[in-house]
Amino acid sequence: MGYLLGLDIGTSAVKALLLKVSGELVGDASAEYPLFSPRPGWSEQNPEDMWQATVEAIKRVLGEYGVDPASIRGIGLSGQMHSSVFLDSEYNVIRRAILWNDVRTTAQCRYIEETVGKDLLNSEVCNPALEGFTLPKVLWLRDNEPENFEKVRWLVLPKDYVRFRLTNELNMEVSDAAGMLMMNVREQVWSEPVLSKLGLSTEILPPIVQSSEVTGTVTKEAAAATGLKEGTPVVGGGADNACGAVGSGVVIPGRGMVSLGTSGVILAHLAAPKLVTEGTVHMFNSSVPNEFYMMGVMLSAGLSFSWLRKQLGREASSYSELTEEAASVPPGSRGLVFLPYLTGERTPHGDANARGSFVGLSATTGQPELIRAVLEGVAFGFNDSVKLLRSAGWEGTSLRALGGGARSPLWKEIIASATNLALEEINIDEGPALGAAILAGVGTGVYASVPEAADSIIKVERVVEPNPEWVEIYSELYEVYAGLYTALKPSFDRLVRFA
Ligand code: XUL
Repeated sequence: MGYLLGLDIGTSAVKALLLKVSGELVGDASAEYPLFSPRPGWSEQNPEDMWQATVEAIKRVLGEYGVDPASIRGIGLSGQMHSSVFLDSEYNVIRRAILWNDVRTTAQCRYIEETVGKDLLNSEVCNPALEGFTLPKVLWLRDNEPENFEKVRWLVLPKDYVRFRLTNELNMEVSDAAGMLMMNVREQVWSEPVLSKLGLSTEILPPIVQSSEVTGTVTKEAAAATGLKEGTPVVGGGADNACGAVGSGVVIPGRGMVSLGTSGVILAHLAAPKLVTEGTVHMFNSSVPNEFYMMGVMLSAGLSFSWLRKQLGREASSYSELTEEAASVPPGSRGLVFLPYLTGERTPHGDANARGSFVGLSATTGQPELIRAVLEGVAFGFNDSVKLLRSAGWEGTSLRALGGGARSPLWKEIIASATNLALEEINIDEGPALGAAILAGVGTGVYASVPEAADSIIKVERVVEPNPEWVEIYSELYEVYAGLYTALKPSFDRLVRFA
């Protein structure tokens, strides 16, 4: 019996997942590590903590399931996108990584737009300049910590740093490289035209590798630390969203997914890149060679619900208890609308100043209305992304539903009705770590291709159809929702000063 190991370097924990090569899930284990927020809007993590959590998660999964390390055929890596790990010439970490959800780089984004221009951004890196992406973080370092910038010899992303610690090889895997705003997405080469305009060199960027390419093997030191066998192959892997797509079978043009974790993602797989100039849609390389995906990202999807639960003092209640209360309220939450911009918003607004809002509170509003309005507000946010994907030509009729929030039948029905798309439940919802394990299998010759492997392992088990009555109600309410951002935008910009 052979096994595949998928590692996901997430924002709160590293998850290690074991898959039998037959496609059967063995199990997983996680190890948490801290997140630092030294100032409002700042979000950082220590790369050494990422590595230590990886070591711990691997040891736990091997120990818990009693798997012989010699029977692991390959390892795949996945991880949070965009977060910057700066290394000096001796490969030492220079400062804490600045994360994907850190919004300190608004000035650098405007500078990129002015200096590079939107046309070159579109034709080269295929994406708008957004606070979370890696390139603005490099410029922030140059502007604010010149002594650290001077030391930068290499720039990598979290999972590629972990790859370095496992294999001693420095590479950037293509689906993750796409999220740096530094790579020509069509050609899959570092963008000399963009970087030279900003006075940066491509020399700080390691070679680009493919998702299912073997990039090295576990070193003697990494084997001693983790319990893995020296010489085990490690493949490129993929960005967490690219691997989430693999791990849910969204690897064929026309298929799409909705992922409802802390952040929320709507993703559609594409055979060729499309240009979307409005609404901060992302266009990245998929983990299927030479294919792509288009994606909208909401920063506070599940986070909006966990925030509300905490603020209502209901942490002793389960999420399903809370959604049961929300189910007693009719669609439309008795005229209450929630804007889920607790940490600003990426898609569709690209606005770090936007803030969460309840509009329509009345003396009779209670907790069930507040809860239902939050579930609906997040669903309207997803609909913003669906509309943008549609405007770029996506013709899908369903989305595979993933993530913790997708366990709620009510939330799924609300999202299906707000987007007017069927939501598909799949047999295994293990997210990026499963995708990474599948890529390890493709790279080591266990499976013939990514789509073939994904379709043999992942099956649709149940479909949640839109509720026709709710579709009608939500299409009207969505107009109200969309108009509120426009109306409140000037106030958000003024309120920042008081935050
Ligand atoms: C994608 C993004 C997030 C992170 C979460 O653009 O910023 O989904 O990848 O880990």
